[in-house]
Amino acid sequence: MNGAKKIVLGVTGGVAAYKAPELARLLKKGGLDVQVVMTRAAERFVAPLALRCVTGNAVLTADWDAQTDPYDHLFVTRGASAALIAPATANFLAKMAHGAADDLLTTTILAARCPVYVAPSMNPAMLNNPAVRENIRILEKRGINVVPPEVGEMADGEFGEGRLPSIEYLASLMMKAAGVAGDLAGRRVLVTAGPTVEPIDAARFISNRSSGKMGAALAGAARDRGADVTLIHGPVTARLPEGVRRVSVRTAVEMLDAVTSRFSDCDMLIMAAAVADFRPARPSAGKIKKGDQSPTLALEPNPDILEAVAKIKGGRVVVGFAAETENLIKNGRDKMAAKNMDVICVNDVGGEDSGFDSDYNEVTILCRGEEPLPLRRADKPSVANRILDVAVKFLSAPVA
Ligand code: PMT
Repeated sequence: MNGAKKIVLGVTGGVAAYKAPELARLLKKGGLDVQVVMTRAAERFVAPLALRCVTGNAVLTADWDAQTDPYDHLFVTRGASAALIAPATANFLAKMAHGAADDLLTTTILAARCPVYVAPSMNPAMLNNPAVRENIRILEKRGINVVPPEVGEMADGEFGEGRLPSIEYLASLMMKAAGVAGDLAGRRVLVTAGPTVEPIDAARFISNRSSGKMGAALAGAARDRGADVTLIHGPVTARLPEGVRRVSVRTAVEMLDAVTSRFSDCDMLIMAAAVADFRPARPSAGKIKKGDQSPTLALEPNPDILEAVAKIKGGRVVVGFAAETENLIKNGRDKMAAKNMDVICVNDVGGEDSGFDSDYNEVTILCRGEEPLPLRRADKPSVANRILDVAVKFLSAPVA
């Protein structure tokens, strides 16, 4: 042992078990000592050797004879900050709810005195079975921390609730439980996402292209790094992360109010929203009738949110975006200076499957006084973390 805080990671036999080595690696990278306990079914999805390689610790499996100590099930959680079962199958939840003790992991959890977390992961039909729901309720009543599964695509292609939450989120929960702070712990981060919509009449509007995926990824990444996150979003199609405060707006003026009223309380503002620069000058309260003449739409400029907060910026970190197709660096630098940003992420929105709507993005990060940092095209959560790696350097030291 190296003095690191210990976490017990229980892995049970669901398909999401393939994510366990990556989760264990993140926990280890976060400075934790990770002790893995696996069920026999889990071993069919992921090899104990993989978990041993990433944790540096021997993995405890269902094979009692292979254990060095016959009392491992009693000792393994001693001194642990928390135990996390991820993924937790329906079978394992049932065993836990009813106190079964038929393998090393069930007995380990029965003997645990540390906080226990379970991350159920299964097909939506199984999750919604009354027996499974009841078992989850029993566990919650007993003080077990149930991490709600996410909505999304299952391994079998079905869509619904039952996905294992992101391993970054699970890792951040364990870091918190162990009292190990992420680099945004104690910081308040405001993120904007998605488009704004500007009414033409009761039925029509003008808007910008944006799914909200980039902003949602930034909010999730900031949350995983320990921040208290408020996500101000227009009408988005992206799935929004759990564990962040959400504020829904429609127009640029509503987004301006939502940002400026919270700005003085934040440490960092990240403007990933695609705010409409113009709005119809005279929106009609009713629906404009289709006539012989095509109506002419008069537009007027919307307020610029970043320009508004630039005046009251103080020591807060401001990160903006620019969607560009040419002269990326020059246009980005000009916008950064004009709006008093610390960091600007210039999206190349001219490429295939990148930027707007896509799950991927290709950005160059520009910041005050430094060379441009071009990032390879990557999934938006990875891009979000690279942006935060740069942005955190601009935070002033926390007030003691
Ligand atoms: O939502 P996705 O589908 O995931 O797509 C992500 C994205 C491409 C929309 C996102 O990464 C992005 O680039 N957002 C900003 C796009 C944009 O509006 O760029 P801009 O050059 O018009 O604005 C520059 C900056 O000023 C942006 O940070 C913007 O939020 C901000 N702005 C713009 C207009 C306005 N009235 N007020 C603002 O604060």
